[in-house]
Amino acid sequence: MSQSLKGKTALVTGGSRGIGRAIAERLAADGATVAITYNASSAGAEEVVATIEKTGGTAFALHADLVDAAAIPALFDALDREFNTRKGSKALDILVNNAGNSGWGGLADATPDAWNTMFAVHARAPFFVVQSALSRLSDGGRIINTSSGLATRPLPAVPIYSMAKAAINNLTHALAMELGPRGITVNAVAPGWTRTDMNAAVRENADMVKAIEADTALGRFGETSDIAAVVAFLASEEGRWVTAQVIEASGGYKL
Ligand SMILES: NC(=O)c1ccc[n+]([C@@H]2O[C@H](COP(=O)([O-])OP(=O)(O)OC[C@H]3O[C@@H](n4cnc5c(N)ncnc54)[C@H](OP(=O)(O)O)[C@@H]3O)[C@@H](O)[C@H]2O)c1
Repeated sequence: MSQSLKGKTALVTGGSRGIGRAIAERLAADGATVAITYNASSAGAEEVVATIEKTGGTAFALHADLVDAAAIPALFDALDREFNTRKGSKALDILVNNAGNSGWGGLADATPDAWNTMFAVHARAPFFVVQSALSRLSDGGRIINTSSGLATRPLPAVPIYSMAKAAINNLTHALAMELGPRGITVNAVAPGWTRTDMNAAVRENADMVKAIEADTALGRFGETSDIAAVVAFLASEEGRWVTAQVIEASGGYKL
């Protein structure tokens, strides 16, 4: 890779698996010092850090259960300590709000608790992560949120998830306006169907896979590296003039 992010720091929430893992590995390959967060997958997080270090990159993992609002200030205290030790400053150049929990279940089965948990991770956490990041974010920095195509094409099977992702798109626009004067760009990447644990059950259903591939212009499921490539562009100097955008990376789904 290009080492275009050499000297930069990055935080990727939900970097222990799936899309977040691929983003963390890509940003590290491009030269950034990458902090990942994990909740349940401590072994996964360790594996991501080891993989990055094996290829000459720098990364470390911090625990944060983003259902718990109090975890966010604690996360940033720990992040400050690590960046101060490693880089001599707590400055954060690239923030990727990616962590997400899946939540299958339509309107009839929904409960207030399930609604709260979904919104806590997908909508409240990114908001308060940005609030905590503000004093650490470098001018000219980057915020990249992981949205979903479902934000604009909601699926009846996941109405709460779809709503929460619509909130992320809205937040992306609001933050871009607020942080533009500091040269900070704020964008969202909206993946289509991407091969991760989140849709493992769907991928066991051959008919559904066939239908999804038929509805996708490029005719296949997305890979996590497909999403990481878009994030890497937005994080790079090449992405400097792109802000307030929700960029769909779905191989052309449901055109
Ligand atoms: N896969 C897709 O097709 C697809 C499509 C559109 C959008 N997305 C979005 O892409 C993002 C990543 O999804 P993915 O497919 O990579 O999912 P995944 O493989 O299930 O990984 C989810 C990640 O989020 C973390 N996470 C989940 N609950 C958390 C919590 N309470 N607190 C902190 N972290 C938590 C997990 O950490 P632990 O394992 O450590 O708990 C894990 O690192 C999500 O925002 C998702 O909505 C995915």
